[in-house]
Amino acid sequence: MKILVTGGAGFIGSAVVRLAVRRGHEVVNLDALTYAANLENVASVSNSPLYSFEQADIRDREALDRVLDTHKPDAVMHLAAESHVDRSIDGPGAFIETNVTGTYNLLEAARAYWTRSGKPAGFRFHHISTDEVFGSLGETGQFTEETSYDPRSPYSASKAASDHLVRAWHETYGLPVVLTNCSNNYGPFHFPEKLVPVVILNALHGRPIPVYGDGGNVRDWLYVEDHADALLLVLEKGELGRSYNIGGENEAKNIDLVRTICAEMDRLCPENAPHDQLITFVTDRPGHDRRYAIDPDRIRNELGWRPSVTVEEGLRRTVEWYLENQDWWRPLLAREGVGQRLGKA
Ligand SMILES: NC(=O)c1ccc[n+]([C@@H]2O[C@H](COP(=O)([O-])OP(=O)(O)OC[C@H]3O[C@@H](n4cnc5c(N)ncnc54)[C@H](O)[C@@H]3O)[C@@H](O)[C@H]2O)c1
Repeated sequence: MKILVTGGAGFIGSAVVRLAVRRGHEVVNLDALTYAANLENVASVSNSPLYSFEQADIRDREALDRVLDTHKPDAVMHLAAESHVDRSIDGPGAFIETNVTGTYNLLEAARAYWTRSGKPAGFRFHHISTDEVFGSLGETGQFTEETSYDPRSPYSASKAASDHLVRAWHETYGLPVVLTNCSNNYGPFHFPEKLVPVVILNALHGRPIPVYGDGGNVRDWLYVEDHADALLLVLEKGELGRSYNIGGENEAKNIDLVRTICAEMDRLCPENAPHDQLITFVTDRPGHDRRYAIDPDRIRNELGWRPSVTVEEGLRRTVEWYLENQDWWRPLLAREGVGQRLGKA
């Protein structure tokens, strides 16, 4: 297949690009190269004849038309987004422009391209979204694909809006779409403003490890390479118009996740143990959702997919990767906003 991946220089998009090329797909990586992007993420495949890159912004309709006509992909996997909840609190405008208007542009460009191409039955538009669109759970329960949307941050509201647009383009224009809503990812190449890399790098530097509120917020954690694997499966085997929840079957309180990372750091850097003495509770994020949990029955029963690594194994690999790849993350610490507390409203 020839796949146009938007956001392929970001964290999850680059995992999709690397895996798709390894599996023999042709990949066109379309990315605007915002603060969150890094072409080093795809360095391992960038010399492959199967890979090409287009610097373009999904808010720019003409650029999208040009890229689609030039490369003539069989499928679009849409991962380009503003993705950091804290930044969405300080500056929601960029989230509306990229996640909502950008998705609208991409849908329209894809619909026009698909129509011009004679509406091939095999064409797919795969929209990648988040479990955050479902809002916050209490102590029990899980999100299914039928759970009502209840987004509570500018980020999750913008992603919810984009999900609605994608479904509408399927129902109204027949665009062949599939959607996925995934839980929190972690793993190599994660931009150092997100929780897992922040904990690793602050522990490494002996700096306070910030934990929001009481640390009792619960997330389901999915290793990014497992997510990429699930996404390619949904692209190939998912039923049209349907959405699939993807989870890691690894629910953990933030504080427990942070302690697990500290224990890994104790093992790998024993001279600075115990790292959990660096844990510092800080003012909570406004509107911080308490608990997310994924019911993975649909993707497990219909497509036979399960995550391959436990959170303990995934975190071990991730901590080792950050310690071994300092050349990757050091330059990113100088990017705007990194290392600062954002989103206090
Ligand atoms: N990170 C998670 O835990 C998680 C979980 C579930 C779903 N998601 C979704 O997966 C997708 C990818 O997330 P991520 O964590 O890899 O994000 P990321 O911030 O690491 O990467 C986003 C990429 O999109 C690009 N981009 C941003 N605005 C663009 C624009 N206007 N035009 C073109 N490119 C643009 C950036 O340059 C960057 O390379 C997002 O849609 C996100 O909502 C993420």
